[in-house]
Amino acid sequence: MNIVANWSYPTAVKLGRGRIKELADACKTLGLKKPLLVTDRGLASMAITGHALDVLEEAGLGRAIFADVDPNPNENNLEAGIKAYKDGGHDGVVAFGGGSGLDLGKLIAFMAGQTRPVWDFEDIGDWWTRADASKIAPIVAVPTTAGTGSEVGRAGVLTNSVTHVKKIIFHPKLLPGVVICDPELTMGMPKAITVGTGMDAFAHCLEAYSSPFYHPMSGGIALEGMRLVKEFLPRAYKDGADLEARTNMMSAAAMGAVAFQKGLGAIHSLSHPIGAVYNTHHGMTNAVVMPPVLRFNRPAIEEKIARAAAYLGIAGGFDGFYDYVLSLRSELGVPDNLTAMGIKPDRIDELTAMAMEDPSCGGNPVTMTTENTKALFLDCF
Ligand SMILES: [Fe+2]
Repeated sequence: MNIVANWSYPTAVKLGRGRIKELADACKTLGLKKPLLVTDRGLASMAITGHALDVLEEAGLGRAIFADVDPNPNENNLEAGIKAYKDGGHDGVVAFGGGSGLDLGKLIAFMAGQTRPVWDFEDIGDWWTRADASKIAPIVAVPTTAGTGSEVGRAGVLTNSVTHVKKIIFHPKLLPGVVICDPELTMGMPKAITVGTGMDAFAHCLEAYSSPFYHPMSGGIALEGMRLVKEFLPRAYKDGADLEARTNMMSAAAMGAVAFQKGLGAIHSLSHPIGAVYNTHHGMTNAVVMPPVLRFNRPAIEEKIARAAAYLGIAGGFDGFYDYVLSLRSELGVPDNLTAMGIKPDRIDELTAMAMEDPSCGGNPVTMTTENTKALFLDCF
């Protein structure tokens, strides 16, 4: 089945195979004449990137690229990107890649016209109103993985190069004006990245669904997102060229990011510090800590998860859902626990302190304290 769709929610999304050929039109829709394509170093030399640049060049939009982007982009990458943007006289950004390329691309478009330091726009209260919204450049987003969902998000993650802490930078205009979801761009993903990114999408849906905040729209999207992952992630894992599965995983990734406006929880507040300290893959780490977090949250989410299980066609309520997560993980080759991931439990106090500072911590259905979070970390080994 060849799925093609145009959506206007939460922004203009053009989904379907081969639609990267519409990249130049997407730029022109936003008034761009000289876009800067931002991606990471790994993608810079790949054929899919060259093809995207060809599409821009053939339409007379040039083929400018900035790819000096680390896996966890920091303020130095941002500064270099802003310099490339200004030196090249660009008028907007094509953010191209997985989480790193997308987030840094969005932040370059956001920060190129601002006078305050980027840390002034952290996602705290109404700090975003400090920005001059009229100076934010248009963004076209082109995801090449199916997990982060940053292509439909209003935030970008930036790592502080000194403290190694990840900060969420927020502004409503960080939402890209046009998104091109072309599943053919995700076909070359290695199995481990397919699993890691796919389980990140699942974690976004699960945590958003479980979050106690009142947001039934997000709850509904999260539920259907989980169903798509259940049906299509094992298929994309078995056969990376299964385009129907790849297309549906792109949808699930976008849905996860739309849904987590409702909130995230302990999976992400544990996974962020582990990733910062041990440089593990974000989505794979989420998958590793998922079962202990489900047990931790059970008293608050048992009924809710039973409803989800019924929708997903899983018998046995909460227990059935829990067993399903375990079997999905083993089917996809996810390590059983943090020990199997090669991590030793010798920095738990540090990890706990970082988890308590993480913005996802406040959205967990069971209130996280230093004591119970430390115990939860131990449970993950
Ligand atoms: Fe995530």
